[in-house]
Amino acid sequence: MTAILILNGPNLNLLGTRQPEVYGHTTLADIEANCRIHAKALKLDLGFVQSNHEGTLIDEIHAAKGVYGGLILNAGAYTHTSIALMDAIASVELPCIELHLSNVHAREEFRHKSYIAKVALGIICGFGAQGYPLAMSAMHQHLQATG
Ligand code: DQA
Repeated sequence: MTAILILNGPNLNLLGTRQPEVYGHTTLADIEANCRIHAKALKLDLGFVQSNHEGTLIDEIHAAKGVYGGLILNAGAYTHTSIALMDAIASVELPCIELHLSNVHAREEFRHKSYIAKVALGIICGFGAQGYPLAMSAMHQHLQATG
């Protein structure tokens, strides 16, 4: 069975109460539960992790090699700052989809820059919590196509 890892970065543990006008009312636990339902439907094994720490996210990416076929990464604010996360993704050579709940391109200028985009297969942003299953379907199709 194909396995994918969904990695969530800083402050995403606060979803549901954090700026709901931007990020919605859905909690990360709700998102994970929905992803698990979607994973069953797609016959995917799913890892789902959140960390507020850049090094922990990097460790998770390193550990994903040989275990997961692909990564879905909502790196939160590290998207816009972290060369180290970009290098980690490039190092493990796993396909990675960059994901955001909000449309970062319709927001502040500093959110328009993404280091993750430089090593990502593609980007999904602006669809709120629905972006997670969308990204899973996209990764599933990619993994099937590349065998
Ligand atoms: C985010 C967008 C980032 O700019 C922000 O720092 C986040 C969340 C999103 O999912 O919309 O923490 O990644």
